[in-house]
Amino acid sequence: MADLDDLREGAEFGLGIQATPEGFHVKGAAHQPWGLKDRLSRVFNPKTGKTVMLAFDHGFIMGPTSGLERIDLTILPLIEYADCLMCTRGILQSVIPPTVNKPICLRSDAGTSILTELNDNVIIDIEDAIRMNVSAMAVMLSIGDPAFEAKTIANLYKAVDLGSRYNIPVMGVTAVGKQMARDARYFGLATRICAENGANIVKSYYCEGFANVAAACPVPIVIAGGKKLPEKEALEMCYNAINDGAAGVDMGRNVFQSTSPAAMIQAVHAVVHEGLTPDQGFELFNDLKAAR
Ligand code: 5RP
Repeated sequence: MADLDDLREGAEFGLGIQATPEGFHVKGAAHQPWGLKDRLSRVFNPKTGKTVMLAFDHGFIMGPTSGLERIDLTILPLIEYADCLMCTRGILQSVIPPTVNKPICLRSDAGTSILTELNDNVIIDIEDAIRMNVSAMAVMLSIGDPAFEAKTIANLYKAVDLGSRYNIPVMGVTAVGKQMARDARYFGLATRICAENGANIVKSYYCEGFANVAAACPVPIVIAGGKKLPEKEALEMCYNAINDGAAGVDMGRNVFQSTSPAAMIQAVHAVVHEGLTPDQGFELFNDLKAAR
């Protein structure tokens, strides 16, 4: 579309109208092949249609950040409570025992660190994902970044091409540059671009007006937690995101930097899968924390 003159903001999101029922618990995947559905069913619980993914891939750009200095000490005790683990191949192979038998969402792009240009990534070898028997691949997109938007969209496109050869779903991860507004307009654009380019899952942030973002995205959105919040606020964010149409969370810092990470991930799980209110979730958090 070369003509940007009459670009109108979307306004009819059909909130409250269920997306067409399709007989499969993962949005937008009813027409996918068996292998892809099988992998998606490992990530998204078929009973609830939701997921609690534990993200601890942060080290691939920022090294041993707070809470991830010793993944063997901080993350391994949380694994039993997560539905899916999002990490890099290095941590997977060196620290996570294969016997945990959890679905893996493999960070499948790499390139730069916090010391240089964030987001100048290339995708890694698809065969890695096959060798490690992963259930999904994650590729970051830098929508709106003049230097890396096209490159990161091309990365996603390529990853989806490769993933679909072997029925490995791809999660598009929306990275928000400092210059971007974290609002529904931006996330609506970024998440939809991920889906339009073939992502089977999209990772976004929660924002005001998120219901429109989720409604306009034809595949499931999982939300990142973002910077560490007080536990009650993080649980409120999870609750609101689910109520507004998110299919789960892919959360890192708000779990592993919590005052009680094991209690926090269990409380998040209960909010996402059982519909606990933020108050109930916080009570559960405090009870579990006190019991440890
Ligand atoms: C970075 C990521 C991170 O895994 C992500 O941001 C999740 O972690 P947090 O909940 O700490 O924000 O995808 O690209």
